[in-house]
Amino acid sequence: MTPLPFGMIGGGLDAFIGQVHRRAAQLDGTARLAAGALSIDPKIAKDSGAAYAIDDDRAYTSVDEMLERESARDDKLGFITIVTPNHTHHPLAMKCLHAGFNVVLEKPMTHTSGQAQEIADLARDKGLLCCVTHNYTGYPMVRHARELVRSGAIGDVRKVFVEYHQGWLATKVEDEGVQQAVWRTDPAKAGLGGALGDIGTHAENLAEFITGLRIESLCADLTSFVHGRELDDDAAVLIRYTDSMAKGVLTCSQVCVGEANGLAIRIYGTQGGITWRQEFPEQLTVSPLEGSPTTLSRGADGLSEIAELSTRTPGGHPEGFIEAFANLYLGVIDAVEAQRDGREPGLLAQAIPTAGDGVRGVRFVETCVASAREGGKWVDLDPA
Ligand SMILES: NC(=O)c1ccc[n+]([C@@H]2O[C@H](COP(=O)([O-])OP(=O)(O)OC[C@H]3O[C@@H](n4cnc5c(N)ncnc54)[C@H](O)[C@@H]3O)[C@@H](O)[C@H]2O)c1
Repeated sequence: MTPLPFGMIGGGLDAFIGQVHRRAAQLDGTARLAAGALSIDPKIAKDSGAAYAIDDDRAYTSVDEMLERESARDDKLGFITIVTPNHTHHPLAMKCLHAGFNVVLEKPMTHTSGQAQEIADLARDKGLLCCVTHNYTGYPMVRHARELVRSGAIGDVRKVFVEYHQGWLATKVEDEGVQQAVWRTDPAKAGLGGALGDIGTHAENLAEFITGLRIESLCADLTSFVHGRELDDDAAVLIRYTDSMAKGVLTCSQVCVGEANGLAIRIYGTQGGITWRQEFPEQLTVSPLEGSPTTLSRGADGLSEIAELSTRTPGGHPEGFIEAFANLYLGVIDAVEAQRDGREPGLLAQAIPTAGDGVRGVRFVETCVASAREGGKWVDLDPA
């Protein structure tokens, strides 16, 4: 099998998450990074191309040049991954789609839901893929949790607690020039949400992914604990879901000293409960109404087909963050190849987060900010 060539915008030697994308997309040998405009800094863009073994003439210093030259090639890129700060997502994604490329786009998708919808509409009109990287949905035990909820194993969902807690913004590190903090705390670059957009959108997406529920309305309390910071670094949100008695509590914070990536979800239904923590991603605890809680492990017998398809090593040989990310890429690659070959995409392709998920993430941020500005008023989330 020939690996699918792909491109990247951002993700150079100066980047955080682009490095993870590059490794994850190539983990299974099904894709190959062939071109990129890898940094805003031309020297770093070139150096990164050399470090990643990209041909020098395909390591670009300008996105426009990359799209023009790559569009003219016979061996066209299967997709372009956009892993740049939030304010660049809309213009870059629109350019890539206009040039005829499938897109893998980081979250939060854009600054406004109007911009996000524009990307989703353009992708649909052009028959192109736009995957928004809510990568936590790639974990096998998260996918299994979704299958359990779908099968009725915990009955009707009543209560969802989802949290994403970090501590790295507990002091004003943006003033020390930490690149990732500088743009994340600047409304012109991050958007309306601070912690809310950065990690709250992952929590919102994880809850909707596993439960299948959709937020109907919410009530939010946003705080900037660090003096002089414009955007929230802490959020607490109460949630009501559409067509369901279920209620949710979502918290996200980047000032929880000692927390690294404390993403966790607990879901309680009429017949049982489930718990999953991303820092221990191989285990999923299921508690039935009667009897003892059971801890299910990745790689063990009897898990759902999607969990098995998302697994590489036998149980006890741990998998983690990169593998979960790689599962999204396996889905993207299958979706692109299925479209090219005129066949139905497989289960992994059906599980990837879509532009629609990205749009909902931006609406979630907007609705939280609207609620908080009104002193915590309940506000409906636009379902469109
Ligand atoms: N899914 C996740 O788990 C996850 C984790 C971290 C970050 N993110 C998202 O990924 C994106 C990048 O975050 P990061 O922490 O890696 O940022 P970063 O600052 O570490 O890296 C940004 C990269 O983009 C490049 N860049 C900036 N503007 C560019 C432009 N116009 N053209 C080409 N390259 C450009 C920079 O040079 C750098 O290589 C953000 O949207 C962020 O929200 C997602």
